[in-house]
Amino acid sequence: RRPAGAPDKSLARPVTKVGVVGAGLMASQLALLFVRRLRVPVVLTDVDQERLDRGVGYVHAEVDKLLSKGRVSPDEANRLRALVTGSLDKAAFADADFVIEAVFEDLSLKRRVFAELEEHVSPEAVLATNTSSLSITDMAAELRHPERVVGFHFFNPVAVLPLLEVVRGQHTDDATVATALRTGKELKKSCVLVADAPAFVVNRLLTRFLGEVIGAIDEGTPFEVADRALQPLGLPMSPLILLQLVGPAVASHVAQTLHDAFPDRFGVSENLRRFVAAGKTAVWTWDERNVQRLDPEVAEL
Ligand code: 3HC
Repeated sequence: RRPAGAPDKSLARPVTKVGVVGAGLMASQLALLFVRRLRVPVVLTDVDQERLDRGVGYVHAEVDKLLSKGRVSPDEANRLRALVTGSLDKAAFADADFVIEAVFEDLSLKRRVFAELEEHVSPEAVLATNTSSLSITDMAAELRHPERVVGFHFFNPVAVLPLLEVVRGQHTDDATVATALRTGKELKKSCVLVADAPAFVVNRLLTRFLGEVIGAIDEGTPFEVADRALQPLGLPMSPLILLQLVGPAVASHVAQTLHDAFPDRFGVSENLRRFVAAGKTAVWTWDERNVQRLDPEVAEL
């Protein structure tokens, strides 16, 4: 039996070329995954050449690592490298049938990106978003073809974690969902089809968990105690190392989305907000004056 809401598989359209908007770490991980698993041309775009070069460079370096681990042959490595290109011009996406955006978590920015993409891609091309928590329905609302927008939410590290949330917005049609589910399967991910709700399913649970750990520190529980208390449960990494992997800015943003939707159930740590505002990204603690500093002991975990 098909899971509730999963459309007929026969509606899925082929994906022969992929566009990735953004060339940051998440976008570059996506480009690598798509090229490795689908073996189709993948074009990255970003706002300047330096970021673009860094993104393409990341993919090439990861292909080199796969080669040195014997996971791809020298010929395959050459083919994969050649399939990934960068372009500052979204016109390079004209014949892409699956475009995913992984730009900064800002609804108006993502809406602008999709509106601009509509000027270049065909009406059937899927527009996917890797957003962690923003509404797919809102993102699609003002497009000419909102029915081809779908959430395609990966988990860090993308190459390793099998989970993929496929998010159906209010306008998303069956062909788009079927294409997203089939593409997810070809990427060798375990897809879960979820409704468009604040932070979807996984981040809602994760934010509750991390939020309690951060809250305990905010309330005076020693940093090391809060971070290590759950070690006997056999988690793959400590909560604060996980927070670093997620990225404090993303975690804070997801917490804010959930707070806006459910103010009585989710808070945003003022310390976390200050930490992000100060542009810090490393695992941290704060002393009694709320001065953030790297905690060397925890960083070694
Ligand atoms: N990037 C790419 N690959 C990585 C990596 C990274 N950051 N970290 C580890 N890997 C790879 C390693 O290269 C290795 O690959 P190999 O088998 O091909 O050599 C493999 O993962 C296993 O690595 P290790 O043996 O060094 O380490 P572990 O066994 O400790 O696993 C882990 C590392 C997979 C990261 C594990 O600690 C883990 O699963 N942690 C939990 C991560 C998690 O919960 N992520 C979800 C975050 S939520 C999110 O992303 C959503 C967003 O919207 C907020």
